[in-house]
This record gives sequence, structure tokens and C-alpha cells, in this order.
Amino acid sequence: MAEIGGAAIRKLAETYGTPLYAYDEDVIRNRLSDYMKYFRSDEFETGVLYASKAFSCKEMIRLIDSYGLYLDVVSGGELYTAVQAGYDCSKIFFHGNNKTFTELREALEYGVGTIVVDNRMEAEVLAGMAQEMKKDVHVLLRINPGIEAHTHQYIVTAHVDSKFGISPLSEKEMAETVQILSDCPYIHFDGIHAHIGSQIFDKRAFEEEARKMFEFAGKLKTDFGVCVNTVNLGGGFAAYYTAEDHPIPLQEVCESILAVCSEENRKLDGQIRRVLIEPGRSIVAEAGYTLYTAGFIKQTPNRLYVFADGGMSDNIRPALYQAKYDMFVDGKENDPVYAKYTLAGKCCESGDILIGEIGLPKIMPGDILVMKTTGAYGYSMASHYNKLPCPAVVFAGGGSAREVIRRETYEDLTSREV
Ligand code: LLP
Repeated sequence: MAEIGGAAIRKLAETYGTPLYAYDEDVIRNRLSDYMKYFRSDEFETGVLYASKAFSCKEMIRLIDSYGLYLDVVSGGELYTAVQAGYDCSKIFFHGNNKTFTELREALEYGVGTIVVDNRMEAEVLAGMAQEMKKDVHVLLRINPGIEAHTHQYIVTAHVDSKFGISPLSEKEMAETVQILSDCPYIHFDGIHAHIGSQIFDKRAFEEEARKMFEFAGKLKTDFGVCVNTVNLGGGFAAYYTAEDHPIPLQEVCESILAVCSEENRKLDGQIRRVLIEPGRSIVAEAGYTLYTAGFIKQTPNRLYVFADGGMSDNIRPALYQAKYDMFVDGKENDPVYAKYTLAGKCCESGDILIGEIGLPKIMPGDILVMKTTGAYGYSMASHYNKLPCPAVVFAGGGSAREVIRRETYEDLTSREV
């Protein structure tokens, strides 16, 4: 019988039911402490922001807080969760390309430390609001540095038309935005931010990004007379899903980013004082498992299906991104491979395939199927399709587990309906 955080998988399934998101809490803790240990420099003040979109709940936020991470939120809902967790709002960075007026007002009322401004209109609205509410706020401006990196490749001067941030090529939008941010007495225009993609395996993409960002910080000074002190390089650090993936060791990627930052900062005579990163996936993905109970098994002319009691409603990533996962059958880890199975969910959609083909031991209905690396963008992208209640989330460690989000009930599902 296999374990997660020392807790027997069979026991977890019996106690909390399936589908179940189960996190090995020590894996998250180790990641948090590694980030804090490796993203350090003698030259810069450094900071690691947890991108809570990867997995947000009160207990997760308390956990990142206990390791000294800052927090990235992208909506009023994520902000509210942080407030409910008792997180210090001055350490929050609020992102998003279309924050609503209500969200911006909430951010100022709660005393969110930094707002990452995406565009000129937002800068205008925020400046007006800060003035009217007499609230000071720090601001980073989101830049589109023209680098796009996903999985195994990156491209420079790509995707200048991204919906995120302002490209330096949009000269008018940039000039006007910079002017608004530097004119408003309530806005402290600290620096610039970029995020170039997700699940990035090539550290040269981050190095290139750092170069472009420092160059741009220099340009802000020479062209606009604005001297910023902070560069935020975003997230995107890869996680291990299957044997095809080779994430860059954390220490190596942190060191190489900081080395480029130092080199570039010399050209700016030490203008930049603070460097930030904001990982999400790499903190929680590998810690998370989804437990399903095997249901019916069906042979079609070309496939042997095993059906899970969840599916695209708890993990949309295979259907949406053709994301690949690995899995095992609890208690049969050492059994020989019996056949190639297709793991399909129970949603009414042909595309609800969790794993296209995987060699597994003989599966019987009632077996616990354990999908690995589901800790990021699983729960956070879950839906109620087919009115499936959202699974519970447990943190396991030291041989026991505790529920951090309870399973939704049928009553929950209809509780807001008239
Ligand atoms: N910062 C910003 C501004 C972001 O937009 C993101 C992710 C992150 C940080 C964290 O990136 P990470 O370290 O997690 O790669 N739903 C997709 C991933 C979308 C990522 C969106 N932005 C997936 O499931 O693969």
C-alpha cells in the first residue's frame, strides 16, 4: 500500500472519499524553504511571491506565510481568501489585465501593498481612485518583453500582441502610462514586472527576460527620467509530470537568474535594488495527487477503458492543454503491466480523457487510482460540469492527514439557487 505524507492512500480514500486531492505537505514545505534559500543575493533584496492561482485556499496561504513568501493574487476572490487567511495585505501583489473598479477599490481599502498595473486605462483609474481615497499604493508596471516561453522552447520578440502588459513597441501607450504613474502623488512607482510563460524548461528564457527587463529599467530612466528600483520576473518554473520532463534544478535556475541580474545591474550603476519572482506551479504541482476510485472497465475495438469517478471537472488540463500525467494503482505498484489502459473521466464529453494510454497492472473496480503531479491548476480550475461536487482537499504529513477544504455536498451545489 502506498502512502502520501506517511498516510495510507487506502485510508485517505476511505476517510475522505474520492475523488480526493491529497497533498504531501512536506513536499510543499521543502519547496517553499528551497525557494527562500536559493533565491537570495548579497546584492539585491530578493522576494518570492506565491502565485496563488496555482492553488489557493486559506491553509495554503498560511503555509506560504510561515516561510516568508509574498503573495500574488489576480482577483477579488483570491484577495478575499488571503484576507480571510489573515495574510498581511501589505505583502500582496495584485495582478490582472482587467481588474474591475470594485477590485481596485477593494485592494486600496484592504491596503494591498503593490498593484501590478497592466495598461494605461488602469493606470488612469487607479491614480484617480488613490487620489480620491487618499490611499498610498506601490505600483509595478507590467511589461511585455517580447519573449514567449512555454515548455521546451522560447522565442524572443514573439507575441507583441499579448493581452498582458505593455510592449515597449507601443510607444504612445507606454509613454502615457509612465507619465500617469509618475505624476500621481499617491503612487510609488517601484518597478516593472513581466511573466513570459509557464512550465519553462530552458533557463536561457529567464536569463533573456532578465536582460530585457534591466535594459528596459535603464530606458525608463534615460527616456522618461523615471528611476525604478524593482524588477519582478514572474513565474513559469517547470514541474515534473512525466519522464519526458526535465525541470531545471531550482538552485541552478535561481543562481543563473541572479547572476544575469547582477551583470545587468552593473550597467545601470546598481539602480535596481530588489528582484522578485513569482512561482506557482513549481511549489504545489508535485506535492499533489488525485485519488480516484476505479469504476467500470470497458473494452472497445481499440481501447481498454478504465473509468474514474472524477474527470475533467477536477482536472481540465488534459482536455485543455493535452497535458500528460503519470499514475499508479494503489497496492499494485509492483505488479506486472497487464495492459495499456485509457483513463477516462465520468463527464459527458468524449474529450474527458485523463490519460490517453498507460501500461498498468490489472485493474479491478474499486481499486484506488492515483494520478500524480496534480497539485497545480487542478483544484483551482475545477468546474461543476455535470453538477459534480468539488472534491475535498487534504494535507497529509507525518502519517496523518487533515482536511483543508471539505468536499462539496449536493446541498452546496444548489445552495445559491432560487
Ligand atoms: N505570475 C503571473 C503574472 C502569471 O500569470 C502566472 C501564471 C504566474 C506568475 C505563475 O506561473 P507558474 O509558476 O505557475 O507557471 N492554467 C495553466 C497555467 C496558467 C499560468 C498562468 N499564469 C496550466 O494549467 O498549465
